[in-house]
Amino acid sequence: MIGGTGLETVALLDLRTESIPTPYGKVTVEIGRFKAHDEPIVFMSRHGKGHTVPPHLVNYRANIWALKELGVRKIIATAAVGSLSTRLQLGDIVLLDQFLDFTKSRPQTFYEGGGQGVLHVDMTEPYCRSVQAVIREAGESIGVPLQDGATYVCTEGPRFETPAEIRMYQILGGECVGMTSVPEVVLARECGMCYATIGMVTNEAAGIADHPLTHQEVVESLQAAGNKAAGLIQETFRI
Ligand code: HPA
Repeated sequence: MIGGTGLETVALLDLRTESIPTPYGKVTVEIGRFKAHDEPIVFMSRHGKGHTVPPHLVNYRANIWALKELGVRKIIATAAVGSLSTRLQLGDIVLLDQFLDFTKSRPQTFYEGGGQGVLHVDMTEPYCRSVQAVIREAGESIGVPLQDGATYVCTEGPRFETPAEIRMYQILGGECVGMTSVPEVVLARECGMCYATIGMVTNEAAGIADHPLTHQEVVESLQAAGNKAAGLIQETFRI
């Protein structure tokens, strides 16, 4: 599990911390299990303890490499998102379906040519259908409604968007906006891992809201959505 903003810890039993060396640097993860569940869960905090790593500086390659190294096959990630669409309301939980990539400075591949080779990975269905199906079932089982099939715009950050950018993303079909799903989803696919993202709607995107955006607003509205998402994830692992 990769926890984004608002999900920096999760209630796992028998928790131990491990440091995993990778070609891209060391990664710290927590490994434990949910109550009444034997399979080990690896928990990774995307922004580090206390939210110290901004989205454009997350070491995405090291993170995904470390998970692969640990034998992880399926990843559920969470991400705070702003809404560009009237169908996505504050506090909603949304399953990401497609992305529009507006990042600028992030390594996007493990395949840099030479000895590593060249890979053009398929992105027809970027997010994993089978993990999504289990998340949907979990939502039904615990009564958490899910918005489905959203197109996510990934911006470079760390700044928020201008209203003009948001209008452009709306014209292009974007429904929610965040700063982290790309290249995480791409790198997971390169490693053959099944990856799904649970988005938590924390705010109306810039220019839709009638006030300037702050990170504080995002964090505060995450409390309710974060609890819902944590319950959903726990039930997903139970199924
Ligand atoms: N923009 C970009 N990233 C975000 C937002 C937003 O409005 N809300 C939460 N993450």
